[in-house]
Amino acid sequence: MSQSSTPSIILTRRWPQAVEDKLSAHFKVSFNADDTPMNADQLRQALCEYDAVLPTVTDKLDASVFAPLQPAEIKTRLIANYGVGFSHIDLEHTRRLGITVTNTPDVLSACTADIAIMLMLMVARRAGEGERELRAGEWSGWRPTHLVGSKVTGKTLGIVGFGRIGRETAKRAAGFDMSIRVYNRSAINPDVLKSYNALQDTSLESLVQQSDFVSLHCPGGAENKHLINSTLLRQMKPGAFLINTARGEVVDEAALISALNDGTIAGAGLDVFDGEPNLHPDWYGVQNAVLLPHLGSATDHTRNEMGFKALQNLISFFAGETPPDRVA
Ligand code: DGY
Repeated sequence: MSQSSTPSIILTRRWPQAVEDKLSAHFKVSFNADDTPMNADQLRQALCEYDAVLPTVTDKLDASVFAPLQPAEIKTRLIANYGVGFSHIDLEHTRRLGITVTNTPDVLSACTADIAIMLMLMVARRAGEGERELRAGEWSGWRPTHLVGSKVTGKTLGIVGFGRIGRETAKRAAGFDMSIRVYNRSAINPDVLKSYNALQDTSLESLVQQSDFVSLHCPGGAENKHLINSTLLRQMKPGAFLINTARGEVVDEAALISALNDGTIAGAGLDVFDGEPNLHPDWYGVQNAVLLPHLGSATDHTRNEMGFKALQNLISFFAGETPPDRVA
């Protein structure tokens, strides 16, 4: 490809160095050297100036960005998202503007499932509370009644959304002899369920009523907004735990904070938040919750693989093919 026909692309954040180097070998790349998130005006401008925009979950590519634009005034033909979840991109508008959208599935499923299991163990065994106590110099020593938590081994795990990450979580939970129940909008093939030793519940209510741990692995976006609300939380077992490594908006956080404070459920482990990184201010005082800053895919191997997937999508798109991870 001659320099003039080399597609121009813009990265909205810093990406792993190895990926940035490979992208530079194939494309005319505009980097975000200081890693400051772009605002709506800057994102809109990028859509007018570059052949492809490579956003992350922190870029809200919603109607406020797209609505003022008409197909003739934009240059972008591909949005290659760095991440599997794409509920931050308004697909109605990308379709209207003729923009293809891709994501980076598979490569982060194992790491995200690891974090779900870690949160489950941490919250049930009160690891966050213990660490806070120790670092504050307040540990007075071992005693039979100190920070007594809940056993994980042998309990029932309810998985909401039985896609790639939900299945990886089920695999790991089997190592803790857990019984697996799943809730998924579509029916899961009985052979698949059998291979995970899982039972499918036909309603979310039935799943939460029977689970000691409920772990969310469904997409975000309008269809699942506040899927977990006060009514559903009240149907969970009093000693149950909620784990969210999916998207913050799936949970009504004000309702969850009340449920944690009044003992409706025993605890929560959260890696994602509605409106992150700005947390509901009451979270800081909730002791029976483990709170992580969206670390699901944060291993060096996975973050490189996500970048290489985006690169493959770019290469195939600009070669005139359908990119392997096209979502719209
Ligand atoms: C994903 O891949 O969706 C992660 O949440 C990071 O965006």
